[in-house]
Amino acid sequence: MNPPDSPLKVAVLISGRGSNMQALAEQARDFKIVLVAANKPADGLDIAEQAGIETCLVNQANYDSKASHEAALAAAIEASQARWICLAGYMAVLSADFIERFSGRILNIHPSLLPDYKGLHTHQRALADNKKLHGVSVHLVTPELDDGAVIAQMQLPVFNTDTQDSLSQRVLVLEHMLYPMVVNALASGALQLGDSTVHWQDKSAAHALLLPEGCHLILG
Ligand code: GRF
Repeated sequence: MNPPDSPLKVAVLISGRGSNMQALAEQARDFKIVLVAANKPADGLDIAEQAGIETCLVNQANYDSKASHEAALAAAIEASQARWICLAGYMAVLSADFIERFSGRILNIHPSLLPDYKGLHTHQRALADNKKLHGVSVHLVTPELDDGAVIAQMQLPVFNTDTQDSLSQRVLVLEHMLYPMVVNALASGALQLGDSTVHWQDKSAAHALLLPEGCHLILG
């Protein structure tokens, strides 16, 4: 396999604690995080800085429009020479213009088995519906919220005893395995993505992951 661009340069966008960003940084094998940017003061920026990663706070509170904020964010990403953008708990909806500018090169991690439970409060909603299965998805970003092609998912059983906290913690463990696996696969050429197409050229690294009992990996 020939890596498309080695190491693949990635920018990670966050808004808060940054645990997925940290998992990406710690498990980066074939890619390099060249920028961690946040749209508001975020604990994850400190974590990234301590890991020696370039950080940038593009505080949306300092901009008078979404367009001007996104223009500054896009400029920071372009200056970093990142080829791919990973949204990791980035709590703002990106405009169609921004997504178009980086078309087909933005990934997101969402804590549900898409297309179920787009949007917020996914664990709470899964519990309220008495779902027996829940999980996490990594998908391509399109202008529709949480709607782009699913690249990979991890599924877990919901226990009768689960609370929102216990469920979100168990899902988070899977998130921290799934996102680095996907980005490493993209960087190594094992995963090929088009604007709306997902092709797994080599599934071996994905299937080599040791998942917690009862959990399953589903490749898009
Ligand atoms: C994660 O659950 C992620 O799936 C969702 O937002 C949360 C961010 O957590 N999009 P963290 O900042 O990565 O710890």
